[in-house]
Amino acid sequence: MTTAPEAAPVLRWPGGKRAVIKQLLTGLPEFDAYYEPFVGGGALFFALYNAGLLKGREVFLSDLNGEVIDLYRALRDDFDDLLRGYDLLVATYTRMNPADREAYYYALRDGDVAPLPRIRRAARTLFLNAAGFNGLYRVNSNGKFNVPFGDGNVARLKSESALVAAARALQGVKLRQCSFVHVTPTRHALVYADPPFADVPGKKSFRAYTAEGFSDEQQAGLADWCARASSRHGAHVMASNTDCKLIRALYPSTFMATGHWYIERVKVKRSINRDGKGRGGVGEVIIRAWR
Ligand SMILES: C[S@@+](CC[C@H](N)C(=O)[O-])C[C@H]1O[C@@H](n2cnc3c(N)ncnc32)[C@H](O)[C@@H]1O
Repeated sequence: MTTAPEAAPVLRWPGGKRAVIKQLLTGLPEFDAYYEPFVGGGALFFALYNAGLLKGREVFLSDLNGEVIDLYRALRDDFDDLLRGYDLLVATYTRMNPADREAYYYALRDGDVAPLPRIRRAARTLFLNAAGFNGLYRVNSNGKFNVPFGDGNVARLKSESALVAAARALQGVKLRQCSFVHVTPTRHALVYADPPFADVPGKKSFRAYTAEGFSDEQQAGLADWCARASSRHGAHVMASNTDCKLIRALYPSTFMATGHWYIERVKVKRSINRDGKGRGGVGEVIIRAWR
């Protein structure tokens, strides 16, 4: 008998947090709602779901990237239609001569998405992410997905059982396409903020998830937002970012009369940096309002 797989990210996402899940799950406080305002691939969301920690709790996932949120909506609400659309793309791709796959990918990537129904667009997002280069999700300054073709390995395409598991986890979840500034966590909620990372001196971090990018001013705005969510709204706030001077200055160890930021340093092996060439260890921090 085969057992259903655990829920896991259906998107390969730059900056995805699978590599630090253990650390993120350690020492979590009691919470009654969960907010993830930079959800991306949702590594922590799926891990919390698998651990049974979201049972009976309201879950709010948001991201400025509309393609991600539309895909999660389709998984949550229109699973059969999504699967039909996705299966069609996958079946055509896997059956064709491998030499033709690259042209098929580019035709789909560069075709006009505007006339496509919502569910077809979601199927396209899922397919392009699996078939594109190295799991990179990147848009140009007009917000157009511009990742080159990957290695043609069909094993990277998501299986139906993986999609079923993700769709199950998303039932009842509130989804919203918006900037973090429009999210207001409630008292006793757990909040995980995982923004595009600040630059390390001499090295640009990847931030082309949206046409808007993410500036140092936005990093400062996010640090204020985290402090407010923690001290004013009484939420349990945790954030990830680059281990660098800017972030240490924005999350000082005394940020309000009643609390502190506690900083844990973690070393993470990342496969993608800004230009997709460099690989290696990146210093990251996990910032928490509890010890
Ligand atoms: C580091 S990724 C999150 C990765 C995610 N934790 C995971 O495990 O896959 C950062 C996310 O922030 C989103 N983003 C960028 N600017 C934003 C903004 N102003 N408000 C909300 N989300 C934003 C990006 O679309 C991207 O999905």
